[in-house]
Amino acid sequence: MCGIVACRGREHASDFLLAALRRLEYRGYDSAGIAVTGTDRDDLRATRAVGRVAALEARIALERPAPGLGIGIGHTRWATHGGVSEPNAHPHRDCNGAIAVVHNGIIDNAAELEAELRGRGHVFTSQVDSEVIAHLVEELYAETGSLAAATVRVVGRLRGTWALAVTAASAAEVVLASHRSPLVVGSGPDAHFAASDITALAGTVGSVCVLRDDDIVVLGDQVTWLDPMGREVPPRESVRLQWAAEDIEQGAYDDFMEKEIAEQPSVVGRLLERLLPEVLDGALWTQLDLPRPSRLRFVACGTSLHASQVVARTFGALAGVPAETVVASEYDELAASGPDEGLLTIAVSQSGETSDVLHALEDVGGPVLAITNRPHSSLARRSHAVLETSAGPEIGVAATKTFTTQVVAGAALALSFAAVTKSLGTTAVARHALRLGSLPGRLESAHTTAFPVAMALAEELAESRTFFFVSRGGGLPYAAEGALKLKEITYRNAEAIPAGEFKHGPIALIEKGTPVLVLENGDAARLAGSVAELASRGARIIRIGSGSEDTFPILSGPAPAWGPLESVLAFQHLARCLAVTLGRDADKPRNLAKSVTVL
Ligand code: G6P
Repeated sequence: MCGIVACRGREHASDFLLAALRRLEYRGYDSAGIAVTGTDRDDLRATRAVGRVAALEARIALERPAPGLGIGIGHTRWATHGGVSEPNAHPHRDCNGAIAVVHNGIIDNAAELEAELRGRGHVFTSQVDSEVIAHLVEELYAETGSLAAATVRVVGRLRGTWALAVTAASAAEVVLASHRSPLVVGSGPDAHFAASDITALAGTVGSVCVLRDDDIVVLGDQVTWLDPMGREVPPRESVRLQWAAEDIEQGAYDDFMEKEIAEQPSVVGRLLERLLPEVLDGALWTQLDLPRPSRLRFVACGTSLHASQVVARTFGALAGVPAETVVASEYDELAASGPDEGLLTIAVSQSGETSDVLHALEDVGGPVLAITNRPHSSLARRSHAVLETSAGPEIGVAATKTFTTQVVAGAALALSFAAVTKSLGTTAVARHALRLGSLPGRLESAHTTAFPVAMALAEELAESRTFFFVSRGGGLPYAAEGALKLKEITYRNAEAIPAGEFKHGPIALIEKGTPVLVLENGDAARLAGSVAELASRGARIIRIGSGSEDTFPILSGPAPAWGPLESVLAFQHLARCLAVTLGRDADKPRNLAKSVTVL
């Protein structure tokens, strides 16, 4: 989804802006643009292009602009208001082309403001709500002579959500403002930077300050923080950036998804090194400082929803706490569900910026725990406690290592909770902890085994249009995640169905060769009947299990409380290998965005 970058003080602003926009490509977008101030202070040059950042770069190379003053703003747009076109791409400018604005979010009162501005003679060139901001700044900049003062007054007139960056031909600064949409600022030795996603700044700055709602920040010779009244205030606390530049490089891998699949054993290993010592004595739970819940409600979307389903089951199995899982976009349907005493809401989101999740939380009265990969995200700031999943940056749009770490962090938390509530004895807690501790090795061996099998299967199944994923109990969320991965990056139809349910309808879809992926969860004998029914109708059965006859023999030992986590390696590899075989871009599937910041 939309991304913002800005800099003040680099000799060639466009070099930084283009490199930073490339870092935001993973979020999904359909057009891009930058605006930089020129060598003389009356000059503001904006360039926009539909398509990839490469198209924007090509256009800029063609124009061969003179090096500027090092001041600029940039944007990747994912269309919501107004179609995908160059006039609708950001930056948007005022009537004179002397002020440029990039904006993430939605201006709810844009129509009203536009009518008012048109009434005063402003000319609009796009269908985008953000353009009103440029025209409002135009009026108030002329009146106040200060870009910061103008921006303070403009945001006072806006309703909706925004992260925005404004610059002007005659002002040697960039002004930033945020309201329910993320922005961070950081400084290097000779320049100040801002971005809507820290990925853009990894390797450029060592630490960042995260804007809170209604903060205004001016990147000038210094970085100045203002409150909504325009009064100077101390900067927000700075947080160290844990992601290095190489963490977001593709390295020797063919795509980021391949890299991120391969990283899972080591990322889970590091996470467990942090969490396991705090599981046995329950410190992982107690440190969160939350009231002890009598029931749990998980709220999430997409892959995070599947991780939530796993973790909800794990809490039930280990600690006996009733736990339900709610699709975030459906949360308002629960409004009349009765009193919430004893309820802990657990919001699971890798990005911490998913609008459906943030919107759902507006209806939550009690405590909220966030399980997220982004400890400085909007979700983290709105929650009472945060459990960080520490997966590192995930660039592939299809979630892989962030799913695995959500499951592992959630399972560790459930075990720690069971230790505190004594729903499990010390020996049982230690036994489960030992099993958790064996995960990095299990994931590594599943990775090694699954990759070549998936490659061979991808060749065989390239023509298959529909895939089924079948399991029971604790295997079902993994089957659902397998089907989602396949849909997302191969554009093939994929559905997860409880084994016993197949005969009640879906079996009509089975033809000779229809691929059915059967995931066992220590229940191979109970699955056998369903598998026989499907095989006898010609299904191509692909088994993920613990026996040597299985297609993916990657599980072993009794099923743990968190189910067959290793199965994700089979599903991720198969989806990716099939995508590659079909000539799809595994990292940037069509129509999808990494972090969905619209409702
Ligand atoms: C989008 C992505 C999915 C992701 C979902 C939830 O739909 O394409 O891959 O699972 O958002 O994202 P979150 O950041 O909240 O985990």
